[in-house]
Amino acid sequence: MKYLVTGGAGFIGSHVCDALVARGDSVVVLDNLSTGVSHNLDQLVGHPSFDFISGSILDVELVNRLVGSVDHVLHFAAAVGVFTIVDKPLESLTTNLRGTENILDAASVHKKPVLVASSSEIYGSAGSDGVPLHEESDRVVGSPLKSRWSYSEAKAIDESLAIFYHMEKGLPVRLVRFFNTVGPRQVGSYGMVVPRFVEAALAGTPLAVYGTGNQSRCFCHVADAVAAVLQLIDSEAAVGQVFNVGNDFEITIGELAKKVVHSLRSKSSIEMIPYKDAYAPGFEDMQRRVPDISKIKSLIGWAPTRDLDAIISAIAASLRHNH
Ligand SMILES: NC(=O)c1ccc[n+]([C@@H]2O[C@H](COP(=O)([O-])OP(=O)(O)OC[C@H]3O[C@@H](n4cnc5c(N)ncnc54)[C@H](O)[C@@H]3O)[C@@H](O)[C@H]2O)c1
Repeated sequence: MKYLVTGGAGFIGSHVCDALVARGDSVVVLDNLSTGVSHNLDQLVGHPSFDFISGSILDVELVNRLVGSVDHVLHFAAAVGVFTIVDKPLESLTTNLRGTENILDAASVHKKPVLVASSSEIYGSAGSDGVPLHEESDRVVGSPLKSRWSYSEAKAIDESLAIFYHMEKGLPVRLVRFFNTVGPRQVGSYGMVVPRFVEAALAGTPLAVYGTGNQSRCFCHVADAVAAVLQLIDSEAAVGQVFNVGNDFEITIGELAKKVVHSLRSKSSIEMIPYKDAYAPGFEDMQRRVPDISKIKSLIGWAPTRDLDAIISAIAASLRHNH
């Protein structure tokens, strides 16, 4: 099979490309290298089954040509990361709405199956009580005038678009709602907490915990997330459906900071930074977010197999290697 992987130079996309080529598939990446980096794909450059196209999902002609040239589309390209969304709200919204529409339009014209990467952000602050979020859970989001929520809005509309393309035009779509996914190649500069903590711990600089540190998250190793993607694209039963993909082990951000310092035997201190100093005024965060992963477990038998220690040591090893 030949796959078009949009956002393939990014964190999750590049790991998916590695896995596809390793199992004998061909891959064409479309990426504008806005948050992705070409060295994430260094290991694939020159491989006969790999091609990289520098360009944007907003380029309708290019998207059409590339979608027409492959068997299957995996759509990971997006403006991601809290800082990106808050700093460049208009550009981010356009990428996340129009870009996805371009991909779905082209896939529909060329009748190519598409997997769309969505996000647990669509749930907004639902699940703050700790009740695991299942695929049918209601969303709880703030004002559409706050850039904080525009990523959630865009990803939710992307999902609706994809599902309606499926229902009305018969397009085979699969939707994956990634919860916090972490691992090697993810960068801390876009506000991703685990690589940010590991980087600080390795450098011996303070780990900045935003807010009280009592907010909790669940972290899934990227290798587990990639395994879910591969199993889903191979499953006919997954067509026309959305799946939570995440790890349901929960940890507070304060505890995570301590764990990173301890695991890496770092001398770093932990500093508490109020939200008002970390983010733009009016920033809102959710207290807890736990995935219910029973749907994907029962359909394809997927469950995460790697714990937080494995995640921290994998990120640390890759950062040391890069330095
Ligand atoms: N990492 C997570 O925890 C997580 C959680 C939920 C959802 N997701 C989703 O998974 C996907 C991949 O995220 P990631 O964490 O790998 O982020 P990433 O920033 O590493 O990857 C996104 C990629 O898209 C590319 N891109 C952005 N705008 C583009 C454009 N206009 N044209 C072409 N390429 C463009 C970037 O250069 C980058 O390579 C995204 O759709 C994201 O919303 C990720």
